[in-house]
Amino acid sequence: MSGNNGICYEKSLEYWADVPPTVDGVLGGFGYISQEDIHGSLLFLKALFSLEHPPASRTALDCGAGIGRITKYVLLPYFGTVDIIEPDEKFIKAIPEFVGENRTKLGSLYRESLQEFSPDKKYDLIWNQWVLGYLTDDDFVSYLVRCKNSLAENGVIVIKENVTSSGKVEKDEVDSSVTRPLKQFLKLFKAAKLKRIKQSIQTNFPNGLYPVYMFALVPITNDTSYEKEMLDTTPV
Ligand SMILES: C[S@@+](CC[C@H](N)C(=O)[O-])C[C@H]1O[C@@H](n2cnc3c(N)ncnc32)[C@H](O)[C@@H]1O
Repeated sequence: MSGNNGICYEKSLEYWADVPPTVDGVLGGFGYISQEDIHGSLLFLKALFSLEHPPASRTALDCGAGIGRITKYVLLPYFGTVDIIEPDEKFIKAIPEFVGENRTKLGSLYRESLQEFSPDKKYDLIWNQWVLGYLTDDDFVSYLVRCKNSLAENGVIVIKENVTSSGKVEKDEVDSSVTRPLKQFLKLFKAAKLKRIKQSIQTNFPNGLYPVYMFALVPITNDTSYEKEMLDTTPV
């Protein structure tokens, strides 16, 4: 792939270690967009459950979960069990209380970074939001390959991330992350042998923020299925 974009994993972890375990904290001071974000995510998830071959609703995985915002509002209402990956200890500890009454449906809470994580079970849905910008391109691809290999039948990987409009990778020195252009995401999905079956852009976010894309990805089953990608971009 194309290098590490200057990403430093230690610097990202140090940044998050100083952030309070609140919705506003995990959203970098943009806590007020959480409700709209959850609304868009729920519409996207419902569209996936309406597919001809929808994912089952047994087990989901929330990756780079912070305090479990997506787990609580998007995943736990629809899945029997939700597992979590999150490297920051204080965020992990905050999850059960933040999740509240549905905490009994929490599964394994892995205190790990995505670049080191190797799932050892099958998931119906793997949700990655506002976290893949912390990974180098190489680790992004190898992590997605591991996710792909741990999908249950009809399983789907969801990616919800900021996307640049400049067509370039833009670096944030403060938390050592990058924001990628659409073409870079597509290149990395292809390298991981994943294809998009659905793509939407989050609506009703305030002006001035990066566009936020939601991608639903499934394995490419043969060499020609990438070219025949049947992409549904109808708004959710
Ligand atoms: C912007 S917050 C998003 C949290 C959550 N996905 C949400 O939308 O509420 C980014 C999260 O990614 C975590 N993170 C940073 N680098 C990571 C890495 N290499 N692997 C896994 N998680 C990481 C941080 O600790 C933080 O919880």
